[in-house]
Amino acid sequence: MKRILVTGGAGFIGANFVKFLLKEETDVFIVNYDAMTYAGNLESISDVLTDDRHVFVHGDIRDSVKIDETIKSHRLEAIINFAAESHVDRSIEGPEAFIDTNVNGTLKLLISSQKIGLKRFLQVSTDEVYGSLLPDEEAFREDTQIKPNSPYSASKAAADHLVRAYHHTFGLDSITTRCSNNYGPYQFPEKMIPLCINNAFNNKKIPVYGDGMQIRDWLYVEDHCRAIWLAFKNGKTGETYNIGGGNQMTNIELVKIILKECGKDESLIDFVKDRPGHDRRYAIDFSKIKRELAWSPLCNFDAGIRKTVKWYCENRKWLDNLTSGEYKKYYEKMYSGR
Ligand code: NAD
Ligand code: DAU
Repeated sequence: MKRILVTGGAGFIGANFVKFLLKEETDVFIVNYDAMTYAGNLESISDVLTDDRHVFVHGDIRDSVKIDETIKSHRLEAIINFAAESHVDRSIEGPEAFIDTNVNGTLKLLISSQKIGLKRFLQVSTDEVYGSLLPDEEAFREDTQIKPNSPYSASKAAADHLVRAYHHTFGLDSITTRCSNNYGPYQFPEKMIPLCINNAFNNKKIPVYGDGMQIRDWLYVEDHCRAIWLAFKNGKTGETYNIGGGNQMTNIELVKIILKECGKDESLIDFVKDRPGHDRRYAIDFSKIKRELAWSPLCNFDAGIRKTVKWYCENRKWLDNLTSGEYKKYYEKMYSGR
């Protein structure tokens, strides 16, 4: 299974995954299929566009004809689905695009996989499908009840259910992975960590939602990529694997660490109106993937955040190209309302 359709490979995790896989495996062929929404960025994969083991196709996962044609013409054997609308705040402003891509798009990929007879389908999902935890509640396990709270997480949960249904009803060989918050190079600056780094570089205020005491579990993106690849290669069909960093921290702690790393002081912190329905705490029990697939995170948070700040500092052009376009309008609208 070395001929793979990777969807959403011009986005943050997808781009990191494509690079990871080309480095990790010599004998692999990737078709990187991406609709190039505001979050897709060819600059993020410019270094691998000339690799003859990697072909970029501009296409939408909702376009079944193009998916079928791409799979058949490149004799692909499996799909790893990263393509999604991924930002919670945008899902609150406009949920339709989330249902269209995350639910209907995933369904189109499942239909093609089953019809063509692909050997494996891996759905890249999220810990957000489990909902929110109280301070003393146990971390999410794979059998924790699904209780999504935002339009984004509801759309991802719906897609997970469709993957499960395709396995159960049609015997499709599928795997679902559910990961906690990622950080690292090439992340779109609407997300907390690159937003914070970018604003700190530009001496702009850092908007911290509510009291800043929400807890997230941060994982360096390359560790996520390695977990996905292990689950794809060795995971048991029909199973779900949680992936986490074991790095729970409050948002305010996170912001202070980043400001220190950027050499800025805490006067940049600005407490603003909270995100509606904001999940208070995520924590993930990743003992299953550790036990069954021998995966653990390799990058600790201190090293990961240092590498990340350094990367954005050395790639200011990448950041400036993004923050001067559509994002500038989005950011201004978003924060003038808070
Ligand atoms: P991202 O927004 O950076 O990238 C998404 C990519 O999908 C973009 O390149 C975009 O152009 C593409 N895309 C969107 N709609 C498409 C469509 N209809 N057809 C084809 N391509 C389309 O997202 P990300 O942060 O890299 O997340 C990737 C996946 O991982 C998502 O499924 C997300 O739910 C999941 N995930 C993300 C995190 C995280 O912390 N970022 C954690 C766990 C899971
Ligand atoms: O847990 C996995 C999920 O992590 C993924 O499924 C999503 O695709 C990804 O976007 C991420 O979701 P979050 O909502 O947790 O990430 P975000 O970077 O938007 O926010 C992280 C935390 O920081 C969250 O508690 C909200 C808060 N925040 C965010 C922004 C953008 C702020 O306080 N201020 C901000 O400006």
